[in-house]
Amino acid sequence: MPYGNQEEAYKNASTLSLLTTEQALASFAVLITELKRNFSAQACPVVLFGGSYGGMLAAWMRLKYPYITIGSLASSAPVLARESVSCFNTIKTSWDVI
Ligand SMILES: *[C@@H]1O[C@H](CO)[C@@H](O)[C@H](O)[C@H]1NC(C)=O
Ligand SMILES: *[C@@H]1O[C@H](CO)[C@@H](O)[C@H](O)[C@H]1NC(C)=O
Repeated sequence: MPYGNQEEAYKNASTLSLLTTEQALASFAVLITELKRNFSAQACPVVLFGGSYGGMLAAWMRLKYPYITIGSLASSAPVLARESVSCFNTIKTSWDVI
């Protein structure tokens, strides 16, 4: 959590700009590397697991930082999801119904 807490991190556009997928992946790269160093476990292989958004992060970690982990399991992770006008219109219409 950048800035130490949610209230500060959600404060304005500048602080919100740190809450990106790229930043989350970079944070995991640092966290895993530090944990391995702190526990003298540099030789230990790491496998990531995640579901939904966490699954997408697990898959993208393998693409962006392939040297940090040896594998990942991405469950129910829509890594290939794409926006479409049809989807946009369906969601927009559903708000009126809700
Ligand atoms: C946004 O909030 C941060 C943290 O409090 C602050 O340092 C920064 O000046 C603020 N930026 C704007 C544009 O208000
Ligand atoms: C690793 O150890 C350093 C020094 O004690 C500490 O500052 C840091 O928070 C630790 N990192 C993790 C991810 O545990």
